[in-house]
Amino acid sequence: MTKKVLVLPGDGIGPEIVGQATRVLDALIADHGLDMAYESALVGGSSFDEHGVPLTDEVLEKARQADSVLLGAVGGPKWEQFEIAVRPEKALLKLRSELELFGNLRPAILYPQLASASSLKPELVSGLDVLIVRELTGGIYFGQPRGIRTKDNGEREGFNTYVYSESEIERIAHVAFRAAMLRDKRLCSVDKANVLEVTELWREVMTRIGKEYPEVELTHMYVDNAAMQLVRAPKQFDVMVTGNMFGDILSDCAAMLTGSIGMLPSASLDANGKGMYEPIHGSAPDIAGQNKANPLATILSVSMMLRHSFGEEALADKIENAVSTVLDQGYRTGDIYTDGMKLVSTTEMGDAVLAALK
Ligand code: IPM
Ligand code: MG
Repeated sequence: MTKKVLVLPGDGIGPEIVGQATRVLDALIADHGLDMAYESALVGGSSFDEHGVPLTDEVLEKARQADSVLLGAVGGPKWEQFEIAVRPEKALLKLRSELELFGNLRPAILYPQLASASSLKPELVSGLDVLIVRELTGGIYFGQPRGIRTKDNGEREGFNTYVYSESEIERIAHVAFRAAMLRDKRLCSVDKANVLEVTELWREVMTRIGKEYPEVELTHMYVDNAAMQLVRAPKQFDVMVTGNMFGDILSDCAAMLTGSIGMLPSASLDANGKGMYEPIHGSAPDIAGQNKANPLATILSVSMMLRHSFGEEALADKIENAVSTVLDQGYRTGDIYTDGMKLVSTTEMGDAVLAALK
């Protein structure tokens, strides 16, 4: 059966980078036997401008019907004046929670060609390959109650709830342990169990589920230490698993170790392997519309989609090899540019990947 993919370019650089990723999809469909069809729809600020909401029911339904979703990025200063409930980011959060995409995989891999683009010394990061498994549909992002209220004395206070049920921790634990089994079999669970009861439970459940994976070495680390270790000696990690908010922060940190957040794809998976795939970077409004953005994270998101949702390992390898080839050839967008390399635009990078796929 032809696989159906919903493509949601979004805002800012979203349409430019997704445009290059769909060129890659087109090539795989036309020349490499990929049995897939995709359609595009509005999401985020661009949907808000058109329909007054960042995600329409119709698009949500399309996402439900699709076998997977490819997303660019959402958000921008233009929409920051509006209330949180209709901000572009809300579309992302709603897609994640409505589709139950609780398992977020954020690999931080340093391409050897980019070692000099990292903000850390090359010897600290060369060969870096860390996978952050972030819980994506719970924790403080979604906990109730939440809001801004006025106290009896007239002062306002903002509040959110950091909550995880055992079953939510169990299912993300299984995702992380299974991922570790396919790698170096080392899992570091990140929490703040010295202060927060919710993560005391997190640690307890991780330890219990760990007994089902005796081959995996499980360690625990407080989040502040984990942030420090990531910039001190990042190669000590194989797989890290953590909650929604800590994962948000640590994955940006890990991304930067690889030279550019513009290189990193992500997968957000439900219990059945359906996923939403997106670069981990944002909509970069400062360079939007200038044909400058790095499309490689989005192109690599396509490869994650082929691997994790469609079992197309060979085609996924093909994309990853093509990306490695263009880096070998010296092509660099501005974010990963270093002296002596060939500075290219978004579309030129797309051209180079397509040529390398041939
Ligand atoms: C991410 C982003 C999102 C998040 C924002 C855009 C809502 O930072 O995917 O990491 O916080 O999850
Ligand atoms: Mg983030």
